[in-house]
Amino acid sequence: MQTTHTQDVARHYTRRHEQRGDLFGKQPFANYGYWTRPGMTMEEAAEALTLLVASACELSPQDRLLDVGCGYGAGAVSCARQFQPQSIVGIDVTELRLEYGRNYVREQGFADRIELRMGDATRMDFGDGSFDKLVSVECAFHFDTRADFLREAARVLCPGGILALTDLIPKRGIDPSAYLRGATAVGTGVCLDNRANAYDADTYAAHLGAAGFTDIRIESIIDRTRIPFIDAFERAGERLQGQRAVEVRNSVARLRGLVAAGEDYVLVVARKA
Ligand SMILES: C[S@@+](CC[C@H](N)C(=O)[O-])C[C@H]1O[C@@H](n2cnc3c(N)ncnc32)[C@H](O)[C@@H]1O
Repeated sequence: MQTTHTQDVARHYTRRHEQRGDLFGKQPFANYGYWTRPGMTMEEAAEALTLLVASACELSPQDRLLDVGCGYGAGAVSCARQFQPQSIVGIDVTELRLEYGRNYVREQGFADRIELRMGDATRMDFGDGSFDKLVSVECAFHFDTRADFLREAARVLCPGGILALTDLIPKRGIDPSAYLRGATAVGTGVCLDNRANAYDADTYAAHLGAAGFTDIRIESIIDRTRIPFIDAFERAGERLQGQRAVEVRNSVARLRGLVAAGEDYVLVVARKA
């Protein structure tokens, strides 16, 4: 049974699917990208973000990898291609994305190594110690709650297993109530919609520690993710006309407003003790 919040998130991503393609083409990722050089396409940047996270968890051929919030499965396919882990399981709460993802995995020739299935990050259907590595690209701010997910992540990882993820959090010293202007950001495409997750890197590290993680690293990468994405989004929107052009301009303004209000985009890496 999904919580109301998780059902809202799944509805949001189902709606987003309908708009897929009008700005950046039907590329199979759904993240802000990691923009490292001029002229990158959205798909190149999105894959670079996936590979950054996979490298951060030291993904290698003997690993059993879990991808939490796998979306359309493109991250799992990139990880399989680049690092050849033993197996990959992806879970997500948006069935439509999983359906597309399973087709994509088959088309790309990885159906024997990648399985995508319905699953909630906070109540995972896996035994203790089932995975060596866990990645989650740009999802954990949605989880209800992120702290519950971190406990589950520690449970399903084997001792010494590594978690790597990217996430949106308020910067230190930012009042979350100022940051969370409007509690129902899910419907707007803005991501930090779950008040229970509105805390800074110090509290985040405390939650990781309480869940049983050590060697915790939380690093801001907003200058290569959220900010260049907003610029690319604005440029892509300039090609549109009519109502959709207005919507994109409004979204750009809202995203810049969140950054100005103290939003951060972080890479989080930790090891299960
Ligand atoms: C921004 S997309 C990222 C997708 C993918 N990681 C990528 O990089 O393309 C966020 C994803 O998180 C999924 N998600 C949100 N809450 C979830 C939960 N509680 N458990 C599993 N997946 C969840 C959404 O359905 C959505 O596919």
